[in-house]
Amino acid sequence: MIEIATQLIDRLRQAERVTVLTGTGVARESGVPTVRETMVGEWAGYDIVDLATQQGFIRNPRLVWEWYAYRRAIIEQCQPSASHYALVDLEQYFEQFLLITQNIDGLHWRSGSRDLVELHGSIMRTRCFECGTYYTSWAEDESIPPICGRDGGYLRPDVVWLGEGHPKHELSRAYRGVAQAQVFLSVGTTAQVQPAASLPLVAKRAGAVVVEINPEETALAVIADYWLQGEACEILPELIRQLTT
Ligand code: APR
Repeated sequence: MIEIATQLIDRLRQAERVTVLTGTGVARESGVPTVRETMVGEWAGYDIVDLATQQGFIRNPRLVWEWYAYRRAIIEQCQPSASHYALVDLEQYFEQFLLITQNIDGLHWRSGSRDLVELHGSIMRTRCFECGTYYTSWAEDESIPPICGRDGGYLRPDVVWLGEGHPKHELSRAYRGVAQAQVFLSVGTTAQVQPAASLPLVAKRAGAVVVEINPEETALAVIADYWLQGEACEILPELIRQLTT
């Protein structure tokens, strides 16, 4: 039995602007392995700096490309979960809705969420290391990494590597959505890593009701108005059921 406070359901019914932050907990429900879980077998001997930094890419672009290709192939076999689909439904329910994710698996996009900020980018896109041109499809059979059609630079995954800044435009969309939110939901994240860590604080300061959905208590407990304890794939559909009945 999932207990959701009627005051929270009432607040959501009245709300016009809702922002959601998701993290690894949601990806796990779809079976997406963590970075650490992919550093096994032939990848076990590498340091994350070899695989997920600009320096690593400059040193050995083929190695980095192949590690991401291996991870992409795993993720392509994963399916969006009930949480992903519930968040698509929530997007339809509110006048203004923004979904911010720290996940790079592209599953929110695949399931149909469109008001979406992928804070750490997406493994399903690439961009030219030199000129920045984006690609959502590319040939895998010739050069490794594939080459940009514009200037011949190597393509790299469109994800935020260690030591890189977050895309400014996406970051400001995220902060705007959070500052305007009347209800802010943190789902499946410990929100310890910046910039995600500051988002619940910004929401709280701006007067939003802050809700955490997580089986475990996190540092967010200090400021959260509600903690819905449990798995997102159970709680989110139940939240929608109660909202719409
Ligand atoms: N439903 C909801 N929450 C869950 C579930 C679930 N089914 N399963 C696990 N969780 C919770 C855990 O209890 C934990 O609090 O998800 C949270 C995952 O926390 P982290 O592993 O710290 O991941 P996250 O907060 O997303 O931060 C890691 O930083 O390294 C970067 O980009 C990387 O996105 C990653 C982020």
